[in-house]
Amino acid sequence: MNILVIGSGGREHAICWKLKHSKEMTELHCAPGNAGTAQLGTNVNIKPTDIDGLLNYAKKQNIDLTVVGPEAPLAAGIVDAFRDAGLRIFGPTRAAAQLETSKAFAKDFMKRHRIPTADYRVFGREEKEELFSYLRAARYPLVLKADGLAAGKGVIIAESEKDALRNAAEMLEGDAFGDAGTTLVVEEFLTGVEASVFALTDGTRFVTLAPAQDHKRILDNDMGKNTGGMGAFAPTPHMPTELLADVKIRIIKPVIDGMRADGIPYAGVLFVGLMLTEDGPRVLEFNCRFGDPETQVVLPLVDYDLAVLLRDIADTKLQLNRLPLHDANAVCVVMASSGYPDAYDTGKAIAGLDSIDENKEGVIVFHAGTKQDGGRVLTAGGRVLGVTALGEDKDFAASIRLAYNAVNRIRYDGAYYRTDIGKKAISPQDDS
Ligand code: AMP
Ligand code: GLY
Repeated sequence: MNILVIGSGGREHAICWKLKHSKEMTELHCAPGNAGTAQLGTNVNIKPTDIDGLLNYAKKQNIDLTVVGPEAPLAAGIVDAFRDAGLRIFGPTRAAAQLETSKAFAKDFMKRHRIPTADYRVFGREEKEELFSYLRAARYPLVLKADGLAAGKGVIIAESEKDALRNAAEMLEGDAFGDAGTTLVVEEFLTGVEASVFALTDGTRFVTLAPAQDHKRILDNDMGKNTGGMGAFAPTPHMPTELLADVKIRIIKPVIDGMRADGIPYAGVLFVGLMLTEDGPRVLEFNCRFGDPETQVVLPLVDYDLAVLLRDIADTKLQLNRLPLHDANAVCVVMASSGYPDAYDTGKAIAGLDSIDENKEGVIVFHAGTKQDGGRVLTAGGRVLGVTALGEDKDFAASIRLAYNAVNRIRYDGAYYRTDIGKKAISPQDDS
């Protein structure tokens, strides 16, 4: 199979890395890719949202399977376009991707199908007065969510009425969220531990990957601004087998069955963001793509040919009921550019990458914002690298040591990373 992976982050490098282990793959192409994917296959400079450009390239290169990394091309209908052209592609259609692209759609869907999630109300732009009265009568904290895609920035936890009124006005009127701000979801504030579960589904059957935990805030101890994710680990001890089984029965299966029943079958990866509350798991959000940096910890744990798995799903012929996983754990420390998630510099030379031997050490350096420049690798984004260490069984302490040992050998101007990634896997009782 010739395979085209769309995207340029750590997630896409991890997908390419796992595909590289496949016996079924012939050529690997990545659009546009990064310095890491360039080592595994051919990078081609086509934007993920240039659907015509990608379609032409896939035809010209005899691509047998296209795998979509980010949400933007899915939201723009890349799966519909490839299917119409008779090309095999892994991912949900534009209609099915609404589980991510419209929070109002997702909430109404969950309510209809009795899928456990936070209580909520949806307010349109024209319902400002109703919204403000609701916020005046509400108990705090309360969560405000912009309806559409807002690149992870559309969620506000309002601590007080004043806070809520100010943010709601901004979200409805301002340009802060573009079109994403025209409809607001106001949601009950949930407390507990967050976890991410990935289901790979062909619309009927599904398998799950190891449940993971992300570290969304920029600073240690989950302080500071929200980011795309500063690190991850899997399988999270916060989700033992029985709890995962419960999530499959009460959440994943009803979502897949519900989408099919509603006439918009969902195929691809369903990323379920959960809050593990005292009353059981509740859905915080769905994404229609793999997580970043969760992919960097969940794919190395898969003990199966990824190309075969994704092809079977794209063909609506998933054969498995359970995906074989390695009896291991993985910890990923993201190395970022200082300043991220705000402004940061790029173009800094990265040293020390050669000092890490994947096969000897059990450490994989996934590239995110990097660029090849002759013989050098330069920083080219906010999140630069995802250093993933693999450990045996449940020994997270060893993988954390291994990951940071490798991180300490990589140098570039302005390198920034959290120093507490994976800690929650060792002392879950400290978590809240
Ligand atoms: P979302 O994009 O919906 O996942 O929200 C981003 C982050 O906001 C989540 O990872 C949570 O940390 C937080 N969040 C979202 N919804 C809620 C909620 N109902 N209660 C508490 N925290 C939430
Ligand atoms: N790490 C969270 C996400 O990919 O949305």
